[in-house]
Amino acid sequence: MKLTSILFLSFNYSKNEIETIQGCVWFYSLIKRFFKMRKTIIVTGSTDGIGKLAAMRLAKDEHEVYIHGRNASKVEKVVSEIKIESGNNHIYGLVADFSNLNTVEDLSNSLLKKLKKIDVLINNAGVFKTPVHFNSDGLDMRFAVNFIAPFVFTERLLPLLRNGNQTRIINLSSAAQATILMEALKGKVRLTENDSYAQSKLALTMWSFNLAKTQNFCHVIAVNPGSLLNTNMVKEAYGHHWSSADKGANILYELAVSDAYKNRNGEYFDNDKGEVKGEFSQAHPDAYNALKIDELMSYMHNQYL
Ligand SMILES: NC(=O)c1ccc[n+]([C@@H]2O[C@H](COP(=O)([O-])OP(=O)(O)OC[C@H]3O[C@@H](n4cnc5c(N)ncnc54)[C@H](OP(=O)(O)O)[C@@H]3O)[C@@H](O)[C@H]2O)c1
Repeated sequence: MKLTSILFLSFNYSKNEIETIQGCVWFYSLIKRFFKMRKTIIVTGSTDGIGKLAAMRLAKDEHEVYIHGRNASKVEKVVSEIKIESGNNHIYGLVADFSNLNTVEDLSNSLLKKLKKIDVLINNAGVFKTPVHFNSDGLDMRFAVNFIAPFVFTERLLPLLRNGNQTRIINLSSAAQATILMEALKGKVRLTENDSYAQSKLALTMWSFNLAKTQNFCHVIAVNPGSLLNTNMVKEAYGHHWSSADKGANILYELAVSDAYKNRNGEYFDNDKGEVKGEFSQAHPDAYNALKIDELMSYMHNQYL
């Protein structure tokens, strides 16, 4: 006989009453467990490509998922599409053009007021080819959207990320990584789209490793989701692809919530390494160069925080 039954019997409850009370206790603990498991997740750039597919998988797991994009009506459309397909009503939209740092700050300020915690942040929004080369502040669009915006967004949201449960930050890097020319990051030198894209992705990787080292409450992974996945970015840049977008979305999903990766921190996952799924690997040598990381981080902190 269960301990609770012995306890209840000593109070002269009938067998039916005991079963009802036990049922209520079981249901209550189930609900408690469910709410503890539901994570608050933000996926930037989730109106298309691998971000949208990853957000859909996370929504199907009943997490509270924030869909972010630059176009309000596209965000609204994707939120309702994900709600319908996943059957999850806890899907919300966030709008901010990441090429404009003022809107990044506005979005982080409104989230700081609205949310209590963030458990997972996937910094996925990114650009390669763009209609204009520089943003209104004179910064290369690739540096602005792929590195400076996620840097500012994440650093401002640290109070919410600190409240998260086993917080994870997943930063979208790339196989394309190249030594950063600081004058180009500052908008003083014009690079080709290929060069500034690769430099922005190395910058994001260097910052990821630094964040993992300096913020001990969270786990940070930089990931190359796979090269030439079937998305708009790749269609516009190359006109052909090597792998499905699902390959990239699946690794984002796993790095974000799978127990298999819960202890990984300050590392680079290369999804090009395997047929179906990649492995942790070496990023560009500069990502392990303390002097270069210091130079980059002091510039970013002085300039943007
Ligand atoms: N595809 C690949 O082979 C590959 C390889 C390595 C790394 N990556 C990285 O993976 C990430 C996702 O890429 P993807 O291939 O899925 O590209 P995608 O299909 O073009 O999706 C990019 C997402 O970012 C959003 N976005 C673009 N510019 C933005 C801005 N200024 N402000 C806010 N949101 C913006 C897009 O919004 P809209 O819906 O409005 O366009 C879209 O939601 C990127 O960081 C990319 O560099 C991709």
